[in-house]
Amino acid sequence: MTDASLDPLLALRPWEAPELTSWGRLPMNAVDRRAGAVSLDGDWRFQLLPAPDAPLGEVWSSSYVPGVWTMQGTDDLPRYLNIRMPFAEYPPQVPAANPTGVYERAVDVPAEWAGRRIVLQVGAAESVLLVHVDGRPVGMSKDSHLAAEFDLTPVLRPGERSEMGVPPAEGWGRATLRLTVVKWSDASHIEDQDHWWHGGITRSVLLYARDPLHLADVAVRARRDGDLRVDCRVRDAGGALPEGWYVSGELDGQLLTQDTEFDRSNAEDQRVSDFLGEARLRAAVPDVRTWTAETPELYGLTVRLHRADGTVADTSHHRIGFRDVEISGRDLLVNGERVFIRGVNRHDFHPLTGRTVSYDDMRADLVLLKRFGFNAIRTAHYPNDPSLYDLADELGFYVVDEADIESHDHAHEIADDPRYLGAFVDRVARMVLRDKNHPSVIIWSLGNESDYGANHDAAAGWVRRHDPARRPVQYEGAAKLGWADPDLASDIACPMYAPLQECVAHAMSGTQTKPLIQCEYSHAMGNSNGTLADHWEAIEATPGLQGGFIWEFWDHGILQRVNDGRPAGRGGAGLYDNGVAAPGHRWAYGGDFGESDHDGAFIADGVVFPDRTPKPVMFEHREIAAPVRIECFRHEGIVLGNHQHFRGLDWLSGEWELSLADGGTLTAPAELPDLRPGETAAVPLPFELPEDGGEAWLTLRVTTARDEAWAPRGTVVCLPQVRLRAAEPVRHTPVANRPVEVDEDGLLVHPLLAAAPTLSLWRAPTDNDELGGMAGRWRDWGLDAPTRKVVAVRRDPGRVAVVADLLCPGGTVRHEQVFTAVEGGLLVEESAELPEALDDVARVGSVFETVAGLNLLEWFGQGPWESYPDRGAGAPVGHHGLPVDELFTPYLRPQESGGRHGVRRFTLSAPDATGLAVRLDRPSQVSVTRHRAADLASAAHHDELVPRAGCVVHIDAAHRGLGTASCGPDTFASYLVAAGVHRWSWTLHVL
Ligand code: GAL
Ligand code: MG
Repeated sequence: MTDASLDPLLALRPWEAPELTSWGRLPMNAVDRRAGAVSLDGDWRFQLLPAPDAPLGEVWSSSYVPGVWTMQGTDDLPRYLNIRMPFAEYPPQVPAANPTGVYERAVDVPAEWAGRRIVLQVGAAESVLLVHVDGRPVGMSKDSHLAAEFDLTPVLRPGERSEMGVPPAEGWGRATLRLTVVKWSDASHIEDQDHWWHGGITRSVLLYARDPLHLADVAVRARRDGDLRVDCRVRDAGGALPEGWYVSGELDGQLLTQDTEFDRSNAEDQRVSDFLGEARLRAAVPDVRTWTAETPELYGLTVRLHRADGTVADTSHHRIGFRDVEISGRDLLVNGERVFIRGVNRHDFHPLTGRTVSYDDMRADLVLLKRFGFNAIRTAHYPNDPSLYDLADELGFYVVDEADIESHDHAHEIADDPRYLGAFVDRVARMVLRDKNHPSVIIWSLGNESDYGANHDAAAGWVRRHDPARRPVQYEGAAKLGWADPDLASDIACPMYAPLQECVAHAMSGTQTKPLIQCEYSHAMGNSNGTLADHWEAIEATPGLQGGFIWEFWDHGILQRVNDGRPAGRGGAGLYDNGVAAPGHRWAYGGDFGESDHDGAFIADGVVFPDRTPKPVMFEHREIAAPVRIECFRHEGIVLGNHQHFRGLDWLSGEWELSLADGGTLTAPAELPDLRPGETAAVPLPFELPEDGGEAWLTLRVTTARDEAWAPRGTVVCLPQVRLRAAEPVRHTPVANRPVEVDEDGLLVHPLLAAAPTLSLWRAPTDNDELGGMAGRWRDWGLDAPTRKVVAVRRDPGRVAVVADLLCPGGTVRHEQVFTAVEGGLLVEESAELPEALDDVARVGSVFETVAGLNLLEWFGQGPWESYPDRGAGAPVGHHGLPVDELFTPYLRPQESGGRHGVRRFTLSAPDATGLAVRLDRPSQVSVTRHRAADLASAAHHDELVPRAGCVVHIDAAHRGLGTASCGPDTFASYLVAAGVHRWSWTLHVL
């Protein structure tokens, strides 16, 4: 057992010493040692101590590595706070109660490693890692999202590998490795990112052996003209390779030889300022296939270090891409092209492990993003798992690589605190050292929400000098002090949640000097991302605007058992489907683990559910990013345009679909023209438009023509659409002798309705409604529970007119309904007059409930996905049908959901085809679910909701846009529901 006072690692109390960023840790590098290493992943002996200097107990449990103990049955549970630190201590102090995990296991060191250098790699640990071997201190590391390597050669004695049941000789070959992980430290104050707090070892642990003289780093610069430069550092070579030693390379089988012009032993070359190493390889690759996110062309590069006799001392494999990134004027250029950044912010997250993500998880993330039109990732807010970058190279993503620095709660104090200077530079430098060779990485980010200070400038200075490819540097905290200011550390104007008008105004102002790419925009919390299409219309139309990164990819709901409130952990595999947790489980957010102080559902703000099921906004995004579009419909035909930057259309196939409101859907094969990026061409109209059939829409169903790395052949890429013919107004023929029945309260009596149509002015508040302040106003006005008072009922043959007042504390709304028997059914004409005081309400429309058994909704309108007035671009108009239970979107905190925009008519039917049909006077927002607005508003999680047997149907004359006010701009004025008179009408038929 370690005596705290005798152990230098403990005696220094490194958890409260920001100046101590590491001890005994090897320099970071870009040489991937995962292949051929011995994995130490698995169950380790484990104890959770109450403090780092508390004595070890007698009893060990076990903990799985990689993993966080907060998800593995300890009493230290996950905790969610956005900005505020989970403790009151001022940086660099931390509380005395400081959970500390002690992980221990035996390692067998193979005999053949004798004479070699043996290195331990801990993929990531948060927030302080202490390493001991057989009780001897080896090293210490901070920087929770990057690996730490330690040279174990001095403390290990290789021996026979222990075979089944035969231990190696005492003291040889077997050692006890102890990793002590301290949860709270000075580093926690700069790891105050908006996600769950955990503790543990979150990435794999490995052991590998190398020759004493080995490749310590390889720095690649590969340009789009085929110019390749590879600088190799050789550790322990004393600045120059020993006599006769040399380096060779192989690029896709082509041999590269060492450039003898660059030789450290030559005093002249020591002066070549950008040569950092002992040897350089150079090549001019003819007819190079360049790398872009659209064309992720990679070459295999193998670098070998040779001994004087030619034998290989060390090898390093890389996949490299030839591409240039530069800023020219106010444009960010990739290979000379101004590219749009269709990005998303992504955390390393998993609902069962908390932080640990597998290669397959990451591949699934990126494949999904690719299928939905994303081309960029910001690794919010720390360097992601190394495999993510390999996958981004391979599948094609532009990456903004972000350093693990967020001091949100104490930002101002820390940015200039010299005690944290080393940590800032260390974190940025280590990220650059690890990721510099990835073609996907096009921008370095200095971190997030840490104010702006000298510590940032120091880190920026390091990158600018060091990065062989001279990539741009960005930092929102600097950029916000002046988007065009040349003296700030950010090369990019990268605001978060800037109002669109401000961005456009800046681009039009004549003062713009830097590319404007929002590091965060369109906050995806709950039912959100309103006005995304408006943003992109402006971005694509305004030189100087280049896109941004949606906040964020994940809803960080942790799968939780309802009975004991514990995380389900790795045993929860498969206990969710389609965004919904299995019975007895729920998606936990802040507050669900018994914390009294937390930030609730703000952690659930992604474009995918915790199980990666895409939310409806993904379909919106896919359409906004469409590589091929219908520009317009002219007499000579349909004009198609290629909206990519680098590719033709040959990887796509198309099919035409003609949807007739009063007919069916016709299809015909589509021949996509040969278009280069930016080009347009007219193609003939594929159909003779039938005389009848009413409103007509033409959709080009675009799919992958062949298997792509991210999608099998036939995967939908986009569904651009154009209206070919508008609807004719509907005419109704009254039938005077058919009675219309209303009760004494003026409420319609109808055999298929369990609740008559009444006026609805409210929706279950979305997260945007709540955090944007609208929901509070609506509650103050009493729109959630108005009192209906009948004013007049006038009965005529075949016609009943009802006037009612909705009495709300905020004002009285007059509601008129006229029911007229018409051929085939009942015409309902309505109006509502909202006083000026009730400006900006959630909706104005009718709500009714059906009898049970009508379980299928079929409609003509936008679909099949959920859509809203300001989030409807991705849902094409056509004939759609879905079971009622599948219409609802299970946003983590129940709220308004399941709406369909632009609905012209619908039927709700039972399996025997009986049911009701509704036709609307104009395309309207409709929702059909099993929940009243009040049911949704009173539940905190889905497992609390009890679906009703019948359907709750809303038909809205007006429905407020969703906006993004939970963190950012609200919807635009044109999507608000104003005071004044609203009129709408619809017909109800029995099938
Ligand atoms: C940003 C921040 C993110 C996240 C987001 C809100 O200000 O950078 O980390 O907190 O707001 O979800
Ligand atoms: Mg923050």
